[in-house]
Amino acid sequence: MTDVAELNTRFGIPGALTFSEYAGVGFAEVTAAHGRATIALQGAQVIAWAPDGEKPVIWLSNDAKFVPGKSVRGGAPVCWPWFGTHASESGYPAHGYARTVPWRVTRAGPLIDGRVRLAFELIENDITRRQWPHASPVELHVTVSNTLELELVTRNAGKKPLTLTEALHTYFAVGDVRKVKVNGLDGAEYLDKVGAAQRRQQIGPVLFTGETDRVYVNTEAECIIDDAEWQRRIHITKSGSHSTVVWNPWIDKAKKMGDMGEDGYLGMVCVESANTAENAVTLAPGAEHRLSVGYRVAK
Ligand code: BG6
Repeated sequence: MTDVAELNTRFGIPGALTFSEYAGVGFAEVTAAHGRATIALQGAQVIAWAPDGEKPVIWLSNDAKFVPGKSVRGGAPVCWPWFGTHASESGYPAHGYARTVPWRVTRAGPLIDGRVRLAFELIENDITRRQWPHASPVELHVTVSNTLELELVTRNAGKKPLTLTEALHTYFAVGDVRKVKVNGLDGAEYLDKVGAAQRRQQIGPVLFTGETDRVYVNTEAECIIDDAEWQRRIHITKSGSHSTVVWNPWIDKAKKMGDMGEDGYLGMVCVESANTAENAVTLAPGAEHRLSVGYRVAK
């Protein structure tokens, strides 16, 4: 249970930041200069963001379920401390546990330019410590305005090196994914996860004509989602991220998932800033790693 009253007392800013609770999950509602966002305290998961006057930029399924301990379909899930299936334990949760445990608000406030920034820290429990027996505190910093900035900060507080994989698995809202191009990955090598996994090279923009599940490696490039239907471009810049995952489940897989909503797959595309496969991050004792992204909309 989230103590919303205490959060409002400690961090609430009239007109700019309020906390609420729905079905046992806490939410932060942020109204910054030039943009608004909603963040679930479970997973520190941004579930809505748009610049003022703009359609939603972050997609949330119409059938998204908010249940403590379950992942939420849409928003910007944090995949950590592993991306995808666990390397050796098939019973461990896909994409790690960060997206299904509560995070604590540690700092929140307006910046001088009207942006609003919140800092969250993952709350460990017996299960997370068993699945990840490493001292590695992790924070997510969320900065809201007409841009959305996310920064995932991992510190190795242990005495041995540790290796992790991670992603900011953001679902972007689009008018019609069949008319979308993702630019920025031309020439990049990717692991194609549809069918028998194989390595390929991207030629030109990424287009969507069926299930798409690709891990582009060794790329720090800016990606641009060119949305012909809504006549806008979403720019995705990043640092500390060497992989980019592009995903759309398409119709059959979406039906099986059960929480994508009617034709939901047509209105979304995931462009995930990640470190996975050969881009896994190894942290020496005492070292810190930052994966940062910035999203903005251009016409
Ligand atoms: C993507 C993976 O990042 O996430 C896909 O590359 C996966 O393979 C997708 O299907 C959604 O994962 P989940 O666990 O949220 O259903």
